Amino acid sequence: MYQFNEEEYNARMTWYRDARFGMFLHWGLYSIPARGEWVRSVEQMPEEEYMPFFREFSASRFDPKKWAKEAKAAGMKYAVMTAKHHDGFCLFDSKYTDFKATNTPAGRDLVREYLDAMRSEGLKVGLYFTLLDWHHPDYPHYGDWNHPMRNHPECGNEERDFERYKEYLYNQVEEIVTNYGKLDILWFDFSYDWLKGEAWGATKLVNMVRSHQPEVIIDNRLEASGEGHGSLYYCDPKPFHGDFESPEQIIPPQGVRNVKGEPIAWEACFTMNNNWGYCANDHYWKPASMLIRKLVECVSKGGNMLLNVGPDGYGAFPPESSAILSEIGRWMEKNSESIYGCTAAWDIPKPDYGRITRKEGTNTYYVHVFENTVGPLPLTGFDRDRIESVRALSDGHEIRFADGFMVKDYPEIAFADLGPDPVLPDQTDYVLKVTLRG
Ligand code: GLC
Repeated sequence: MYQFNEEEYNARMTWYRDARFGMFLHWGLYSIPARGEWVRSVEQMPEEEYMPFFREFSASRFDPKKWAKEAKAAGMKYAVMTAKHHDGFCLFDSKYTDFKATNTPAGRDLVREYLDAMRSEGLKVGLYFTLLDWHHPDYPHYGDWNHPMRNHPECGNEERDFERYKEYLYNQVEEIVTNYGKLDILWFDFSYDWLKGEAWGATKLVNMVRSHQPEVIIDNRLEASGEGHGSLYYCDPKPFHGDFESPEQIIPPQGVRNVKGEPIAWEACFTMNNNWGYCANDHYWKPASMLIRKLVECVSKGGNMLLNVGPDGYGAFPPESSAILSEIGRWMEKNSESIYGCTAAWDIPKPDYGRITRKEGTNTYYVHVFENTVGPLPLTGFDRDRIESVRALSDGHEIRFADGFMVKDYPEIAFADLGPDPVLPDQTDYVLKVTLRG
């Protein structure tokens, strides 16, 4: 029987807290209609209208090695892919359903290929697994909050047996955690209405998962969704407690603290445009410079960032996503030291011009300058007498203190002299490494 144990918890969370940056992957049949992964629900589409995509799904440009290389080059340390999304279609070879990739023209287990490719690039691997299932006959249809047939009284639930559905869920999760080697993350999605915790058979499910995968990190959506907290937050861990909170499409304004006020693990997941699944008409891409700053923001508040890519119906990354990833990678190449193994600088307030991260358990801080100041840059919050050195992180060069007349009125503040050019060498985020004595 699994029970929360703080020591074991901290041990399994170590790599994850260090990693800070991962890739979310939403890919499935819905990538062909290309109107987002909720297309069946949003358009209340009967399954017959969805089946052409099943007969067509070829994965002809699915190249997981390329995915893995792009994730790695962007500086991501882990990836989480949808083994099954709400439509019920499985990218893995499940013996409990025919609605799976092996029965499409793709004809193979795509989860296995993804896992192999990610692992061979040295990335930690995760699978997303939906708790909902719009394909399964025993899942509530009529009157459900999100089922495509929710408004069809003729799809009533009298004959549906939720116990049978729970068994199906259990069996498939068991396949996932026993047939594919070590999984680093299991990302369940999501609880709503009465469907929460034990309604999913969560204790039994997690006991089974942890008996096969004692070190796997599980999200909090067996008890919550993109909103709401898990029982770790309430300092009352249930056997199916999430290991981290999973705020969605938002960065918590002040990080996440439990009810006792202690910082806890969280991961903000968000999209590069406005959709998780591939959406051909969604061109609202977040610029790479913005995403770099958001990554820094997450770390400066003690969290992780899981950034989504929605490959197209053939399995290729949208060119915009690839371009964004490589631009993030160029910044990470020089500055990832200020991300990995870093957390909030709890003792130093956020400066006007940017953010601060701190290498966990050390005297090393990273001052992220998003916007230059007029004249020398005040290292506010730092005890001037304790500063041993300041270096530009990108090339290691010495940054000296300014001592002109203009700083004389602020003797308690150390000012960094960034030179005569008012334009920052890196206009996205110029990072100063500040080392303190003692
Ligand atoms: C939501 C959606 C879903 C997406 C997930 C990612 O809960 O149901 O489509 O996969 O968020 O966090």
